[in-house]
Amino acid sequence: MKRIIIFTLGLAVFISCGSPKPPINTFNPGQEWNDDNNVHINAHGGGILSFNKKYYWYGEHKVAGKIGNTAQVGVHVYSSDDLYNWKDEGIALSVDSADSGSDIAKGCILERPKVSYNEKTKKFVMWFHLELKGQSYDAARSGVAVADSPTGPFTFIESMRPNKQAWPINVADYHKLPVSDTIKSKYCGGKGCLPAHVDSVNILGRDYQNGQMARDMNLFVDDNGKAYHLYSSEENSTLHIAELTDDYLSHSGTYARFFSNRYMEAPTILKTSAGKYYFIASDCTGWAPNAARSASADHIFGPWTELGNPCVGQDSALTFYSQSTYILPVQGKKDAFIFMGDRWTPENPIDGKYIWLPIHFVENRMELKWMDEWDLSVFDQ
Ligand code: GAL
Repeated sequence: MKRIIIFTLGLAVFISCGSPKPPINTFNPGQEWNDDNNVHINAHGGGILSFNKKYYWYGEHKVAGKIGNTAQVGVHVYSSDDLYNWKDEGIALSVDSADSGSDIAKGCILERPKVSYNEKTKKFVMWFHLELKGQSYDAARSGVAVADSPTGPFTFIESMRPNKQAWPINVADYHKLPVSDTIKSKYCGGKGCLPAHVDSVNILGRDYQNGQMARDMNLFVDDNGKAYHLYSSEENSTLHIAELTDDYLSHSGTYARFFSNRYMEAPTILKTSAGKYYFIASDCTGWAPNAARSASADHIFGPWTELGNPCVGQDSALTFYSQSTYILPVQGKKDAFIFMGDRWTPENPIDGKYIWLPIHFVENRMELKWMDEWDLSVFDQ
């Protein structure tokens, strides 16, 4: 009996620490997803870079307990050849020490990191949503970091509120009028706070001097190499799509505002081989899941037409208990895109799971259906 117990214990220790993980060949949304060290992947609010026939998955490294909702470590990166099996490549961007006074001091909030490769400068550029330490979600800034290799180390350059002293290309006349005192002071934000006539609330004008608020965000690089930063702005009420400079390190000042007062968060974008842009985002309910939104456009700067919730079937009203984070174009397959979402667990953020589902195009809209298990062959049907 004793020998059996010792053998079983030994086997358990061997399996959990020592052994290489057997390769997998399916996606199992919502289940634990282990890396090459047999540890659940720690890359939340993530995004994927395709580079030299490899994929790199960047995301928020979370730690256990509520403190994990703040950045204690930085941005984690994993690499993969096939999208199913991921190798831990360590921390791509580390936070600075807690007392450093740095914008990315340990304890700040660093969310939704995304990386693009710049062909001109040969640099890897990371953008993320940044909230300064101890200021909850008030700062609403964007951070940028750069590296010579996809796995880093990334060097933090700066943080800013985008598009300071630049009007969007679709600015309304009233935005340029002097802002009222109530709008000059901190606006309460949140759905309940906006009056019925949201367009009378000039948050854009209020933030013209010092830069626009930027929270949930994504990056999108178009076929012509132009990169765009999408971010929830104006107290989360309105989405901005902003062009980056050719080196991807700053905003060019050309941007536009969309979905006014629709409170879209977690914005993601794709472009089909026919040149059509599709967009998926969430409603604005913090860590709690809600019904996804979608839209399409013929041009990045619109007009964008809303297409409703792309999810169908059971739990579609809660996006299958997830929130969008990225749309991944599968390499080597035409118009094959994966919706990537987070199933958040804010009480213990390190436990958060990933919901990856294939995007189906049905007539002129997208459809997401729940699947317990699937593989890339769905794109061959
Ligand atoms: C979500 C957002 C997350 C995080 C969270 C904080 O709506 O998508 O990235 O900011 O709110 O409550």
